[in-house]
Amino acid sequence: MTATIAGLDTIKSAVMEALFHILNPQNASWKQRILDEIKDVKERNGDLFAELPQMPVLSAFLLETLRYEPPGSLFNNRAVKDFDLSVHGKKYRIKAGTRIVTSIHGLHQNEENWRKRVGVEMAPLTEFDPNRFLKNADAINNSGCFMPFGKGPRRCPGQGAGLMMTKVFLVAFLNHNPNCRLVLPENLGKDAAWFNLYSRAGYEIVCDDKPEVAS
Ligand code: HEM
Repeated sequence: MTATIAGLDTIKSAVMEALFHILNPQNASWKQRILDEIKDVKERNGDLFAELPQMPVLSAFLLETLRYEPPGSLFNNRAVKDFDLSVHGKKYRIKAGTRIVTSIHGLHQNEENWRKRVGVEMAPLTEFDPNRFLKNADAINNSGCFMPFGKGPRRCPGQGAGLMMTKVFLVAFLNHNPNCRLVLPENLGKDAAWFNLYSRAGYEIVCDDKPEVAS
C-alpha cells in the first residue's frame, strides 16, 4: 500500500514541477540544452531511454527541481530508541517514540549550511539554477544538505525508479512536443506554481505545432 501511494504523488509532483520549470520562458536556454541532448542521441541513432543516465543537463535540471521544490517537503518519522542529538554544540536526549518531523524544504534553502558544507561558489539557494548540480553534484550529494529522497535506513527505496520514471516522461513529452509552450497563469504567485504533494497548482500547456514523432 505504502509503495503504491508513495510512488504516485511524488512522481506527479516531480513531473509537474520539472515541466513547469523547463517550459518557463525564463529557462528557455535550459530547455534548448535538454532538447539538444535528445537530438544528439537521435542523430547517433542511440536508444533515447537507455541513454537517459548519460544526459547530464537533464539530470542536473531534475535534481535542481527536487531541491527547489522537494515533493515530500516534510518527513514524518519516529525515533525507535533513545539517542543523543547534537545541535550547535548542545546535546538533546531524544526518547524512543518521539516524532521527528524534518523540513526538507528548509534544509534545501539553508544558505549558511550549504556554504559551510558544500563549500563551493554557486547561485543563492532562492534562485532556480541547475548549474549547481551540473558542476558540483558530488559535493552536494555528499554534504547532507540535499535529501529529496531522505537518508538512512528509511530513505526512499524508489529513488532510482522515481528519477528514471520522471526522466522518461519528460523526454517522451519533449521529444513529441519540442515546441510546446507554457501558458503562465495571470498574477503568477507561489500558490499557482508550487508543486509539493499537497499542492493544487496547475497550468496549461499549448502544443499546437507537432513535428514528426521520433523513433
Ligand atoms: C521523485 C520521486 C520520489 C520522491 C521525491 C520520493 C521521496 C520520498 C521520501 C522523501 C520518502 C521519506 C523518506 C524518509 O522518511 O526518510 C519516501 C519514502 C518512500 N518512498 Fe519515495 N519518493 C519518490 C518515488 C518513489 C517511488 C517511485 C516509489 C515506489 C516505487 C517510492 C516508494 C517509497 C516507499 C515505499 C517509501 C517508504 C520507505 C520507508 O518508510 O521505509 N518512492 N520517498
